[in-house]
Amino acid sequence: MQDTPTSDLVSLKSDISAAIAAAKDERALEAVRVAVLGKKGSVSERLKGLGAMSPEERRAAGAELNALRDEVAAALEARRTALAGAALEERLKTETVDVTLPPRPEQVGTVHPVTQVWQEVIAIFADMGFSVAEGPHIETDWYNFGALNMPDEHPARQEMDTFYLKAKPDGSRMVLRTHTSPVQIRTMETTPPPIRVIAPGRTFRSDSDQTHTPMFHQVEGLVIDETTHLGHLKGTLEAFCKAFFELDEVKMRFRPSHFPFTEPSMEVDIGCSWEGGELKIGAGDDWLEILGSGMVHPNVIRAGGLDPDKYQGFAFGMGIDRIAMLKYGMPDIRPFFEADLRWLRHYGFSALAVPTLAEGLSA
Ligand code: PHE
Repeated sequence: MQDTPTSDLVSLKSDISAAIAAAKDERALEAVRVAVLGKKGSVSERLKGLGAMSPEERRAAGAELNALRDEVAAALEARRTALAGAALEERLKTETVDVTLPPRPEQVGTVHPVTQVWQEVIAIFADMGFSVAEGPHIETDWYNFGALNMPDEHPARQEMDTFYLKAKPDGSRMVLRTHTSPVQIRTMETTPPPIRVIAPGRTFRSDSDQTHTPMFHQVEGLVIDETTHLGHLKGTLEAFCKAFFELDEVKMRFRPSHFPFTEPSMEVDIGCSWEGGELKIGAGDDWLEILGSGMVHPNVIRAGGLDPDKYQGFAFGMGIDRIAMLKYGMPDIRPFFEADLRWLRHYGFSALAVPTLAEGLSA
């Protein structure tokens, strides 16, 4: 005896239900959906068969088949939701983070040598009673040049490889500061003496080779009071060099030089040797220039709003990248700013070792 349509559909329906229940994941479930409701699926084929039936047969069978199709679609959707939920639960279980694990320094990245040296410099000068000052990267002509005793025609302006911004309607042009010395003026304007500040920060010059990048870092120093003299300048810089290079003695040379904003001016060299092709800092017969310095020019003190007959002091400017290269033996400045992870891992510092004088700067 032939199956009636109804009993045929009953067994089809139980087969489909079983297949849906047996689907272990969303992919298996999708295979069931295709086998049932896809173009050549078991239910789809039967729906196509309706066309060959008499109108009465079609009415009865059509209603049953459509109901079955809707039921199957609903069952597939319910199972799909359940499987997706279970998959998410499973993932969450394996991806939990154990916040009670101890810190793992090797996984938290490294501190860039510039940041490291920047912090070392602050630690050393903070210990000598200096505080940290800041100024903007985009400066007026006045702060970068004029107030620093470089009037419009001053030749030193041309030597600075300055980046100029577009002219304003009044013809004036802002500059990317070529040094941190503008912070000298800004500090004198806002801080009554005695002044003891350092100003680490970014500086900009249109220059690029093995030891120059268009953006680099300097740290400015400024001391202004009524009695500070050249001896204090030398003593301060010598103390800095010993602390920074972590040496008991550092051979130093104060060489007469010229800056418009200091008088007298000195460039400072430290002794070094290249024995065996390896740079050693602190002793030897060779010299490396590390900074510019001098007694603040009276015109600069006046531009800062102070009376040069009453106040005096010294200033210095040092390249942070440069002293980082010297201390940590990096031959080329350009990789500093290339964000190459291999370089950073090699030359970087532990994020958990904050430089302090008590614990050792680079320990
Ligand atoms: N501003 C000078 C430079 O960039 C360095 C300097 C600062 C020299 C302070 C003397 C005093 O070269």
